[in-house]
Amino acid sequence: MFGATLRKLTLLNLSVFLFLFVTFGMLLYSYVARQLFDDVDVLMLRHIFAIFIVSLLIGTVAISLASYYLARRALIPIKAAWEKQQQFTADASHELRTPLAIIKGNAELMLRHPDRTIAEEGSLISNIIRETLRMNKLIGTLLTLARADAQKAELKLERVSLREILENVIEIFQGLFEEQGIKLVLSTEGQLALYADKERLHQLFIILLDNARKYTVTTGKVSIICYEEAKRIHIQIKDTGCGISAADLPYVFDRFFRGDKARSRESGGSGLGLAIAKWIVDKHGGEIKAESQLGVGTVFYITIPLNL
Ligand SMILES: Nc1ncnc2c1ncn2[C@@H]1O[C@H](COP(=O)(O)OP(=O)(O)O)[C@@H](O)[C@H]1O
Ligand SMILES: [Mg+2]
Repeated sequence: MFGATLRKLTLLNLSVFLFLFVTFGMLLYSYVARQLFDDVDVLMLRHIFAIFIVSLLIGTVAISLASYYLARRALIPIKAAWEKQQQFTADASHELRTPLAIIKGNAELMLRHPDRTIAEEGSLISNIIRETLRMNKLIGTLLTLARADAQKAELKLERVSLREILENVIEIFQGLFEEQGIKLVLSTEGQLALYADKERLHQLFIILLDNARKYTVTTGKVSIICYEEAKRIHIQIKDTGCGISAADLPYVFDRFFRGDKARSRESGGSGLGLAIAKWIVDKHGGEIKAESQLGVGTVFYITIPLNL
């Protein structure tokens, strides 16, 4: 859209420039040659004027081409952001429409048999509740991202103990991991005290441990290693799960990206977890990256400065 408008404008500018310069040059040339100079000098001056006009033309063309090229280059990031935003809106509508369709379908099924009791329709009702919860969670996540985009999501910085946050999160997941037969190991070193937003860090580890659990099969192992070095806290979250293919790895932090669409949908994901995780780490001035091998496992590396 931007490119097309720009192209039209620049081509128009270019032709107007060329036309004006050629006309102006020719008029000037004939006027000066006829009126101002005697025969002896005319030949030399003609040459000078010819050179002048040709240089002018070449200069104009070069400037027009260069400005066209630079303007196009400057528009590339704007175009990319625009396309990303459009993709985001399309994905978000799709994600919201799916649970709505399930809710509508289940309610319609119930309407078809008004004589049935609530106990008989139990599974339909629980489908509706499950999808409502999923939608509620999705809307909450979308709001967080919208606030993050509008730079309105501020951190509540305070002195926090990372070890305490990790222990809290592990307590939440312990039962689930045990049920799945996955070993969960935490190894910490040093003080691990930093200035950070406690709630956001809690959310970060929930996202990463939830993924580690979801994408690890029974008898697997998830380990969290945490230590302090060079005024930064280093965290590794390592699982022996299904891994991420090299083709997918660069996109895992993108909004709505899901590796194996069918499997992820089944496990209730929306592909926004890691996008939020990255935003939380970035906001704390840190870095997050993933290394993975299909069938072997995945490691998420995070570093966060002690003082923001
Ligand atoms: N620990 C992991 N092991 C394997 N794949 C992972 C892991 N964490 C994330 N992924 C992949 O990255 C994708 C994006 O993750 P996320 O943003 O949390 O979305 P989802 O809602 O699908 O979990 C997932 O669909 C999955 O394919
Ligand atoms: Mg996830």
